[in-house]
Amino acid sequence: MQDKDALGTLNWLVEAGADEAMGETPVNRLVARAEPPAVSPMKASPAPVTAKVPLPVGGAAAGDAISDAMARAAAATSLAELKSAMEGFEGCPLKRTATHTVFADGNPKGRVLFIGEAPGRDEDRVGKPFVGRAGQLLDKMLASIGLDRTRNAYITNVINWRPPDNRDPSPEEAAMCMPFLRRHIELADPLVIVLLGAVAARHVMGISDGIMKSRGRWMDYRVGDRMVPIMPTLHPAYLLRQPGHKKLAWRDLQALAARMESLGLPELSAGGN
Ligand code: URA
Repeated sequence: MQDKDALGTLNWLVEAGADEAMGETPVNRLVARAEPPAVSPMKASPAPVTAKVPLPVGGAAAGDAISDAMARAAAATSLAELKSAMEGFEGCPLKRTATHTVFADGNPKGRVLFIGEAPGRDEDRVGKPFVGRAGQLLDKMLASIGLDRTRNAYITNVINWRPPDNRDPSPEEAAMCMPFLRRHIELADPLVIVLLGAVAARHVMGISDGIMKSRGRWMDYRVGDRMVPIMPTLHPAYLLRQPGHKKLAWRDLQALAARMESLGLPELSAGGN
């Protein structure tokens, strides 16, 4: 193929939405799905780095993977241990197509935790949550109430590996990430939690009503024997698409600022550490 043709093809693929170079040879995913591995993916030897084929996981294999996630999460006694437990977890098919395990960013000592949905392309490349356009808006939202991920805000996601093509994670994939998220919340020990968008609201609090109904409403999240105030708000990626709704997010941020103050976190808005 001429260089010009190759460039034209590449441009066409980008126009069509391709955003990741996966490998030199095409992968027939239908065949890969039709022939499940003889052993569960969890017990299989690790895939070579070039094999970016999502493994099908369902039924007993998904159950095994969820049990493995629960055991690994429970054994972690610090955030650093939890991160390496997740990096060593091979049960989630999303991990096979992701570049990085996207664990968290920010300072847990600020004790204000934000939970988003899942890494996108930029987050997968960099290995940190919310570094793309939505992340830039999130940083502005945080700054408006004196929060800053380098100082006093901590950010993670429900899903820790980028779903291919940013598709919705399957219920099994989400279930494999949840033990890690629940342990993550315990170890980060926040005084207040904000759920960014409907996916986080659904998985963390079981809210199936639309985010427009649940946003701005304070609820309780149990961490050990302590109840932590938790509030869903609009996801910054949604606000990029619907800027007219920024005023609603602004109201929620004001409620968060007031709650932080009542929790004795005034130094957060005064620029302390
Ligand atoms: N959207 C999310 O929910 N999380 C990210 O990390 C990036 C975008």
